[in-house]
Amino acid sequence: MIAVLDFGSQFAHLIARRVRDLGVKTLIFPFDIPAAELAERKISGIIFSGGPSSVLEKKSPRPDKGIFTLGIPILGICYGHQVMAHMLGGKVARGRDREFGKEILRVKESAGIFQNLSLRETVWFSHGDQVVELPRGFKSTASTPACKHAAFADEDSRLSGIQFHPEVTHTEHGRKILKNFIYTLCRAKKDWVIASVEENIIAETRALVGKEHVLVGISGGVDSLVAATLIHRAIGNRLHAVLVDTGLMRKGEILEVASYLRKHGFTNLHAVDAKELFLRRLRGITDPEQKRRIIGHTFVNVFEKAIAGELKRHAIRFFAQGTIYPDRIESAGTGGTAAKIKSHHNLALPEKLGFTILEPLKDLYKDEVRRIGLHLGLPKELLFRHPFPGPGLGIRIVGEVTREKLDILREADAIFIEELRRAKEYDKIWMAFAALLSLKAVGVMGDARTYEYMVALRAVDSVDTMSADWHKIPAPLLEKISNRIVREVRGVNRVLYDVTQKPPGTMEYE
Ligand code: XMP
Repeated sequence: MIAVLDFGSQFAHLIARRVRDLGVKTLIFPFDIPAAELAERKISGIIFSGGPSSVLEKKSPRPDKGIFTLGIPILGICYGHQVMAHMLGGKVARGRDREFGKEILRVKESAGIFQNLSLRETVWFSHGDQVVELPRGFKSTASTPACKHAAFADEDSRLSGIQFHPEVTHTEHGRKILKNFIYTLCRAKKDWVIASVEENIIAETRALVGKEHVLVGISGGVDSLVAATLIHRAIGNRLHAVLVDTGLMRKGEILEVASYLRKHGFTNLHAVDAKELFLRRLRGITDPEQKRRIIGHTFVNVFEKAIAGELKRHAIRFFAQGTIYPDRIESAGTGGTAAKIKSHHNLALPEKLGFTILEPLKDLYKDEVRRIGLHLGLPKELLFRHPFPGPGLGIRIVGEVTREKLDILREADAIFIEELRRAKEYDKIWMAFAALLSLKAVGVMGDARTYEYMVALRAVDSVDTMSADWHKIPAPLLEKISNRIVREVRGVNRVLYDVTQKPPGTMEYE
């Protein structure tokens, strides 16, 4: 395995992704992990990620010095390159010119991490500081006009550093550089290929669970479905799946998930119809936060009851969750949005009941989960569906939630999504949905005056959910969608397109 030390999460994740794509298992560790802890694991190479700090600041992050004497090859990237030079006796200074963007790198010799590269390479920089003096025994291996030691190496101790970012696509042969590091310098083995990752998860689950039974809650999301399918492969019908129909799901969603599960041989599938209960508890409630709380609590109540029912029939020891790698890293680190968003589904219940938690996807990124899903035969539409919030349509109806409004919204949303898919626009969008404003407007249909609901369409482009831009759906497509919704959905006479960015608007309405 390759260990990436995290000096700034975004960079660390990107590096981990690239190395995994090259076929080697990669895990991210905090930058200050003790060297002894790394020595205990089977690690063939270490990468120091970039990060936003400057080594010239007193409190900037430093790795344990012992790491340099473990005899494991290390590659420092950007901040990682500077911190390595600084700690080993070199000198870092604020550069005369800051370098941002593409540069031509002059490579001294096509060897080491630059093996099979040419002597002029396009690379991507983003830094203010630079290494101005190398540690003793180190050689400069590449430069740019503004940066004398853009790369360095010490062959004896197998340490190298690069000032630029090989993990970004703007660095033309970044992949080759990482490949040279992990296969030539670290001599890592290629073992991270989807089929074998899948086999390992199944084998590990089988070994861990033994003859016991496992319970899983299916939300309709990709992660819980893939997790359930893997566990089912491992232990068959000792897996008990609970699916709660809150009545707040999209059109056809529950049926689609249930029929997938049945078709794949899940005999212990318990679909709980809680539609009435949710509607009853939401009656008259208009405050967004109160709605979210009610939906969350009701979900837990229904789920608890379903579990109690299952436990009467079987002794179940394990509870499976679809936690993926970024959820774990982010909640352990800075408590990012992923952790916050998922808290809705993070039931304290499993632990209260003494279940052992099973997380088969805990080391995987989302697209790896999707690739496994494809390999396992999950339908593409399900695997590549836009994100959907835990409280569901409950927060896409502004104001009180009623059965009538839910039915209207489901229909309008289904048309919107169907047309986006048909026009091949769906996969270009991060998230698209319809929302129902509890406001009526006047219109005219045929000769008659109408007074009906307004539907808002929202489609956003985003990278990290923290910010988003509204997606520029071509006008003729918008027109087609609007015409279809007004014509086909009874109770709607007006369609609005939301052109608000985030911030200030959130993606959802409540
Ligand atoms: P906002 O509306 O905050 O949404 O811009 C950002 C992303 O988070 C999702 N979201 C939620 N997901 N439970 C969830 O599971 C929630 O309570 C929740 N609120 C927002 C939203 O769908 C979008 O993808």
